[in-house]
Amino acid sequence: MRLAVCNSSSINGGLLSEPDDKTRRRLSSWYQHGKFFFGWLRNPREVGALLPSGAAVGKLLVTGVRPGARVIELGGGTGTVTQAILDAGVDRDDLIVLEKDASFVKFLRRRFPGVKIIQADALELDVYADELSGPPDFVISGLPLLLFTNEEKKRLVDNIFSVLAPRGRFHQFSYVARCTVPREQLRAVGARASLIGVAPFNVPPCFVFRLRKSAAGTHKELSVLRSSLRKLGLGRRAG
Ligand SMILES: C[S@@+](CC[C@H](N)C(=O)[O-])C[C@H]1O[C@@H](n2cnc3c(N)ncnc32)[C@H](O)[C@@H]1O
Repeated sequence: MRLAVCNSSSINGGLLSEPDDKTRRRLSSWYQHGKFFFGWLRNPREVGALLPSGAAVGKLLVTGVRPGARVIELGGGTGTVTQAILDAGVDRDDLIVLEKDASFVKFLRRRFPGVKIIQADALELDVYADELSGPPDFVISGLPLLLFTNEEKKRLVDNIFSVLAPRGRFHQFSYVARCTVPREQLRAVGARASLIGVAPFNVPPCFVFRLRKSAAGTHKELSVLRSSLRKLGLGRRAG
């Protein structure tokens, strides 16, 4: 038996009919908000927010993501950002989502059939990166980094930059107007952060940062590679 839902547009000759698309979308959005809120009640430290991100945050987080890109999403929640990644044209085979909470994982698997939703700690993303057909072009994170210890952040950043493609990017949101990864941790992997944009009407307002290897970081790696090649007698020698 189907439960029909009534709104002004679905009353038809006094009979309850199937909900229309708008009603369906509204119900599903309320359901996601409820699911997220109960997730926060279960585990406030890990979920880190009372409500899922709004669409504006999802849009900022997928800046530069194009069809053909390989993406790892961290902390999928109820899927606002997952949806934005798919809307940017990423193939379901080119996306993996790591989420720690079993109930969110179950929800995401039902919402996004065909996407690899893995119940795992994002700090171990290097173990799962092989599930993609090549190195990820983007790591897109909804993790509440403000609540992570410095050691956890260091492990995360080291792991992300060890798996990212050479020109890959790590996008992270923040509820404060600064990048939540300490500068010395970025410097250690030759990366730097820049602000992509702000979603002022998100609850709470949200800042989205892009973290990528700086030209200097890439240059340093290239010179290490060149000197290793020279030692092996494979590179060009000066003079
Ligand atoms: C602030 S919510 C963001 C959810 C969703 N991306 C959004 O923007 O609405 C943080 C999410 O990260 C998940 N999470 C927190 N720590 C995690 C970890 N170490 N590994 C994987 N997921 C984690 C939480 O369960 C939660 O779903």
